[in-house]
Amino acid sequence: MELFDKITELKNEIIKEIKEAKNLNELKLAGEKNLSKKSPLNAMMAHIKDLVGEAKANFGQAMNKARNEVTEAYQNRQLELSEAEIKEKLSKEKIDITLPSVSYKMGGINPFYLIQDEIIDIFVSMGYEVKEGPDVETDYFNFERMNIPENHPAREMQDSFYITNSLLLRTHTSPAQAHAMDEKKGEPIKIICPGKCFRRDDDDVTHSHQFGQVEGLVVDKNINFGNLKATLELFLRKMFGEKREVRFRGSYFPFTEPSVEVDISCMECHGKGCPTCKGTGYIEILGAGMVHPNVLKMAGYDPKEYSGFAFGVGIERVAMLRYGIDDIRRIYQGDVRFIEQFTRK
Ligand code: DAH
Repeated sequence: MELFDKITELKNEIIKEIKEAKNLNELKLAGEKNLSKKSPLNAMMAHIKDLVGEAKANFGQAMNKARNEVTEAYQNRQLELSEAEIKEKLSKEKIDITLPSVSYKMGGINPFYLIQDEIIDIFVSMGYEVKEGPDVETDYFNFERMNIPENHPAREMQDSFYITNSLLLRTHTSPAQAHAMDEKKGEPIKIICPGKCFRRDDDDVTHSHQFGQVEGLVVDKNINFGNLKATLELFLRKMFGEKREVRFRGSYFPFTEPSVEVDISCMECHGKGCPTCKGTGYIEILGAGMVHPNVLKMAGYDPKEYSGFAFGVGIERVAMLRYGIDDIRRIYQGDVRFIEQFTRK
């Protein structure tokens, strides 16, 4: 057979083998056999030594052409097989996008914590430090240090949950005042204490045996009632709106002298009188006063040199007024339909 025909025949065989490779692996094997230096096609090069002149050049060209065709066939098949492989992978891994997704139910933030955070934010913006006190208090801190000695009638109003004769769940956050004064040892104080309180109350729409308060205390030289008034007016207007009237009424607390009850003008009727404010035009919102000299003295502060003001605000009460919540118990029940109405602004 003519040498050139042999080249063509061999080349055609190789191309056929390449085209018949069923996958990339088979193609790789065919490539290793036919594209390497030791391939049957390359072996034909041995014949070049028997040729001269034009025949030699023609032979070289024919060999080159054959090798190029083989390489091209290999590359084309490689492309075909890769594409086929991708297509098959895609069809196997098809995702059914019509399947309904898993839905997540987003809850809300309990209005108790929304309001507690808001109260904290307002006072922190005025330079107050946040201090927390223990839920379980000694009789000494809960009452004695708050100028409520044994047999004082104010104890009756806050009769509470005792753990031992001298340990109880705190009835108010006010003992945090005594803790802060003991800690600061005669230095100026500007703190708020948010926390839980407990009383032997019968639960109804406005009362709960557990509730939250935020206590505030400022002690320094030259603190006067004007400072108390300005601070609480600012706080209440930030919380209930700039248009609120703030009213201070004389009251009594054993740990403050003078003591006041602070009211805001009713947000429903703006002071005219309606069912929300029980016809009075005002809503009672917190208790406050100038720190009693005995409370200062017991903590080692000289009342001739130092004075201070304190206040205590009920968290649920503020939340109920702000959001128009009709029953305090809703705040504790964890009903998603109630909670999901509230989110942080
Ligand atoms: N401790 C009081 C209560 O639980 C609230 C209170 C009133 C706190 C006047 C104060 C205050 O600091 O000055 O009812």
